Formats: sequence, structure tokens, C-alpha cells
Amino acid sequence: MNALVTGSSRGIGRSVAERFVRAGHNVVMNCLTSQERLEAVVRELNALGGGQAVGLSADVAEYSECARLFSYAEKNFGDVDVLVNNAAVSYVGLFHEMRPEDYSRVINVNLISVMNMCALALPPMLRRRGGAIINVSSVWGRRGASCEAAYSASKGGVNAFTRALAKEAGPSGVRVNAVSCGVIDTDMNAFLLSDEKTALIEEIPLCRFGLPGEVAEAALFLAGAGAAYITGAVIDVDGGY
Ligand SMILES: NC(=O)c1ccc[n+]([C@@H]2O[C@H](COP(=O)([O-])OP(=O)(O)OC[C@H]3O[C@@H](n4cnc5c(N)ncnc54)[C@H](OP(=O)(O)O)[C@@H]3O)[C@@H](O)[C@H]2O)c1
Repeated sequence: MNALVTGSSRGIGRSVAERFVRAGHNVVMNCLTSQERLEAVVRELNALGGGQAVGLSADVAEYSECARLFSYAEKNFGDVDVLVNNAAVSYVGLFHEMRPEDYSRVINVNLISVMNMCALALPPMLRRRGGAIINVSSVWGRRGASCEAAYSASKGGVNAFTRALAKEAGPSGVRVNAVSCGVIDTDMNAFLLSDEKTALIEEIPLCRFGLPGEVAEAALFLAGAGAAYITGAVIDVDGGY
């Protein structure tokens, strides 16, 4: 199986890529900022055995960059069977203090990127009558978070897009699902102070933050034959939060 995982230089995306490689799948990795750092991660994954990894830095908020990423994937492995839309940015702050360019960037990176990538992934998947798309979403997409209004809106959009696209693509054999993450221990939460972390943990029934690898397990499941009858689902991986 050939998978493409956006935003996979670190955090959840990196764990998803690693889990797919360990399972014997080929993975195209991606990041925004540093091709050199991405290549170091690619080397680490290729040292694991299993599938093969390659990587290309590209801004998935831009359609032309997504097209470049797909050409790179096709050149290396052929058709993409599984697309994991993971790349995103968070912005923490009062909404009325955000500049238009700040909330536009959040929507472009978190939601428009998912549309860009799906628009490019779907035609060959529909032709082959098979494929799986997994969008990485957030509990805030359902509930909304104070000081993360634009981020919450982007993830609410990802959830609605997932359900709608699943209806459209299902008759052609393409499944579209989302994993809705709770608080996962990555750089995205590095801004939290220790007492803020303690307060958050008190609200989580499983009494801890999630691990990136626990999201990766859900993504691998949704990509595989075990999830053959699951589409349009937004699955919570949130410790019951
Ligand atoms: N961590 C959580 O608690 C949590 C909770 C709910 C949902 N999520 C979701 O889980 C996903 C991964 O989050 P994370 O915590 O692993 O994030 P992270 O540690 O901040 O990593 C973000 C990744 O996305 C890449 N990226 C950012 N903007 C990009 C762009 N425009 N084009 C391509 N790549 C881009 C980054 O690349 P660089 O290394 O180049 O910057 C990095 O690889 C996101 O969709 C996030 O919304 C996370």
C-alpha cells in the first residue's frame, strides 16, 4: 500500500508515517519548513525495515504545492492508496485580536489543504474504485475552544467535509474518515504551562494526554481492510475528554 501523510516531520504525522512503514507500507512524508530535517526523519524510518519512506517539503495550503507533492509520490511509488491529511497549525489567542491574515492562514493550512489534497487524490482513486482518506481532526471541531476560534472552525469544517465527501465517494469504493484527537503530547501543546496541563488532565477520564502513536493506530486501522465498512466516521481518540 502507498500512503501519503502530510505534516509528518514530527508529532502525530511522524508517528502515523512510522506506523505505516512498520506495517510494510510505502510512505510519502511531508513538512513545511525544512527538507533537510525531513530527510533525517526519512532516514530514521527507512532504518526500521518494513516499507520505504521518501519525503518532500511542500506547503499544503497551496494547490500547486500539493500537485507537486502528488507528482513526487507518483514518481516514487505510483498511485496513492491512502491519504492522511494531518498537517495543521494552531493559533491561540482572542479572536478579535487576530489579524485577517492570521485566521486566513489557519483556515488555509487546516481546511483548504484537506480540500486541495482530496481534489488531487480522488480522480485516480475513483478510477481504480478504491482508496482511503483519513483526515486528522480535533475535539474542538465539535465543541469549540475559547481562544482557538479559527482553529475550531477549521476542524469543524474538516468534520463536515469528511462526512459529505464520504457520501459522494462511497459509491465509487473510496472511504473517507476522520480521527478527532483530544490532547495529544506533541509540540502543538508545548505552550501549555504545567498547571494548565494538570487542569486539562483532570478533565480527561483516562487521566493523561494521548500519545501520537495512539492516533497512528487509529489511522492504520481506518486505512486497512478491518475498516472496510467504515466511512463518514469521525472517530474520537481523546481518552474520553
Ligand atoms: N497535539 C494535539 O493535542 C492535537 C489535538 C487535536 C488535533 N490535533 C491535530 O493533529 C494533527 C497533527 O498535530 P501535531 O500536534 O502532531 O502538530 P505538530 O507537532 O505541530 O506538527 C505539525 C506538522 O505539520 C506540518 N505543517 C504545518 N503546516 C504545514 C503546511 N502548511 N504544509 C505542510 N506541512 C505543514 C509541520 O511541518 P514543520 O515541521 O515543517 O513545521 C509538522 O510536520 C493536526 O491536524 C492537529 O490539528 C492535534
